[in-house]
Amino acid sequence: MKIISAKDYDDMSRKAANIIASQVIMKPDCVLGLATGSTPVGTYARLVEWYERGDLDFSNVTTVNLDEYKGLTKENDQSYFYFMNKHLFSKVNVKPERTFLPDGTEPDSEKACSDYNRIIAEAGGADLQLLGLGHNGHIGFNEPADVFEAKTHCVDLTESTIKANQRFFASIDEVPRQAYTMGVGTIMKAKRILVVVSGEDKAKIVKEAFFGPITPRVPASALQLHGNVTVVADEAALSLVK
Ligand code: GLP
Repeated sequence: MKIISAKDYDDMSRKAANIIASQVIMKPDCVLGLATGSTPVGTYARLVEWYERGDLDFSNVTTVNLDEYKGLTKENDQSYFYFMNKHLFSKVNVKPERTFLPDGTEPDSEKACSDYNRIIAEAGGADLQLLGLGHNGHIGFNEPADVFEAKTHCVDLTESTIKANQRFFASIDEVPRQAYTMGVGTIMKAKRILVVVSGEDKAKIVKEAFFGPITPRVPASALQLHGNVTVVADEAALSLVK
């Protein structure tokens, strides 16, 4: 695991965007595994900037996102589809038909999950998977559990995640209670993983996830077993590790 220290959020975003940009340049038809949350917003903004400048071409890229809320339509401004469209898809030349997320509107969880597993398999898996880190160590929406789930599954979100995501909704009652998420097994199959972390409030979980025991109670700890992980974190997020 390679840990890159960034000065602050902007520096983290630039460094992470540089890694993604180099992936797109080296392999123009790559599969990018993408993430939502507030942490990667700055990374996407840099990619859009470099695309506008003519430095990046997404026309042959395929994207597979980590997760989607169950029950939210693409038009709902809190859906992860909406987020991706707003921050990246509508601003670069990626082909809309090559951008994939689990289908939040599919009420049959088994179907939604098996469809998404098939989409990921057909795309050939991610060349580079971008990840944020939840305060409880979740990646995608893989919440602390007794086992690491391998494939796409439907999760009941924990109280702490519902509370953390409340800020994006009008009230806590509107926060969906379930989501479809790629499994830890699928995430671990990505050829390369890039984790972005920012802020002092993540310092404790950074220490636990990347320097503590490997346990499904801290889903991100599985990343310690992957052979090609880069963590780009700002100084605040790294403040509890040397
Ligand atoms: C959300 C997402 C995760 C994200 C995490 C952290 O619940 N499902 O993919 O990494 O929370 O979000 P943030 O970057 O806003 O702290």
